[in-house]
Amino acid sequence: MSDKTPVDIKKHFEQMAAEYDDVIRQVVPHYDQMLDLVVRAIPETNSNIRVLDLGCGSGNLTMKLKACFDDATVIAADIAKDMVDLARIRLADLDQVEVVQADMLALPFEQNFDVVVSTLVLHHIADAAIKEKLFATLYRVLKPGGILCIGDIMLGETLELETLNREYWITHMQSYFSNDEIVNKWVPRHEATDAPRSVGDELRSLEAAGFDVPFVVWKCFNVAVYGGVKV
Ligand SMILES: C[S@@+](CC[C@H](N)C(=O)[O-])C[C@H]1O[C@@H](n2cnc3c(N)ncnc32)[C@H](O)[C@@H]1O
Repeated sequence: MSDKTPVDIKKHFEQMAAEYDDVIRQVVPHYDQMLDLVVRAIPETNSNIRVLDLGCGSGNLTMKLKACFDDATVIAADIAKDMVDLARIRLADLDQVEVVQADMLALPFEQNFDVVVSTLVLHHIADAAIKEKLFATLYRVLKPGGILCIGDIMLGETLELETLNREYWITHMQSYFSNDEIVNKWVPRHEATDAPRSVGDELRSLEAAGFDVPFVVWKCFNVAVYGGVKV
């Protein structure tokens, strides 16, 4: 996988914002389950939490989060203007939700979040050093006792496991698309914009960035929910 610059990814999501919610469940297995589990992994110690939804896209994760934690204050951040505009419309009726345009690699926030959540975003960073720097930033913006919870697509730990992941993903897409669309549209799009890493590599980077307790909540072939606790 090659590195993708934030500018390429920004443009990609600005172009696909309008079709995003129509296709995301068709392209990502267990999309809703993954988002639900990210929310369920948040300890219910305090409903009045302050949450950062990193790479919020059209706002689906923030919606699920507010359905469980209605007193939560959520800052939903995304680099792509069209996604920010869409999220602002879709989340307009929710109290204590602010949608901001921001690059996760240059976050303008202080240490005041109880929770950071992010779904289907971090696989756009291929470079381990950049990923670790981002994890260190997320550690910094969390309060002590805070939790980072990520849902994302993953690379298999070995070539054989990656082959199984790839088969699982293709089988999922065959329920929605022709083989021609899968081979000539969705697989090339994945190769061009995504750079997933294995769960093991992600947990090692979380630990290297300072997270005291890296964890995995759930994994099913090419999708997983994992994160880290700041003690
Ligand atoms: C596949 S979408 C996921 C959206 C949403 N989290 C969800 O689960 O439906 C990836 C999102 O990450 C955003 N993104 C990519 N790189 C980013 C960056 N450097 N900073 C902030 N957002 C970024 C994109 O604009 C896009 O909206």
